[in-house]
Amino acid sequence: MKKLAVFASGTGTNFEAIAAACADGRLEAEVVLMVCDVPGAAVIAKAEKYGVESFVFRPKDYAGKAEYEKEIVRLLDAKGVDLVCLAGYMRIVGETLLGAYEGRIINIHPSLLPAFKGAHAVEDAVAYGVKVFGISIHYVNSDLDGGKIIAQRAFEYDGSDPAEVHRIGQKIEHQLYVETIAKLLK
Ligand code: GAR
Repeated sequence: MKKLAVFASGTGTNFEAIAAACADGRLEAEVVLMVCDVPGAAVIAKAEKYGVESFVFRPKDYAGKAEYEKEIVRLLDAKGVDLVCLAGYMRIVGETLLGAYEGRIINIHPSLLPAFKGAHAVEDAVAYGVKVFGISIHYVNSDLDGGKIIAQRAFEYDGSDPAEVHRIGQKIEHQLYVETIAKLLK
């Protein structure tokens, strides 16, 4: 059984999609750790619901990124994590975590990379007026949203409501993330 860690900062719908797929056997894996940098985020209750241990931290409580990432690496090592899945973890991964896990960290991003990198991809794409949106899953390296692409899925949308694009995109994300993790674990 492969061991996953999922990192999130917010609602955690992708966390839940992954945890549910592990629970019902679509993924031959177990989520052994959820890491969250936002105390009180909705993902924390979702981890409890699935019986997944959480590490919740406040970056301000540490001297810097290297300090909290050292703690994260210690936990990942202790739990024997095979793959780290970033799922709405709104923080740039630093050299401490990359040094230990590069090649085993993937991220889901709500645009067709390399277009619309960053934290406001959907809003930026709508403002630009694009008609084909999409989701990318990529390896994480030191370039923001810049690692090798593993999977992408596109959808057409001709409108101006970012919330609608998020809704359509998230349904795709939940399927694509589970399918992609399954392929990577094989
Ligand atoms: C997801 O839509 C993901 O693509 C996005 O955050 C959302 C988290 O949703 N990630 C980024 O924008 C990364 N740059 P969730 O908490 O419901 O899974």
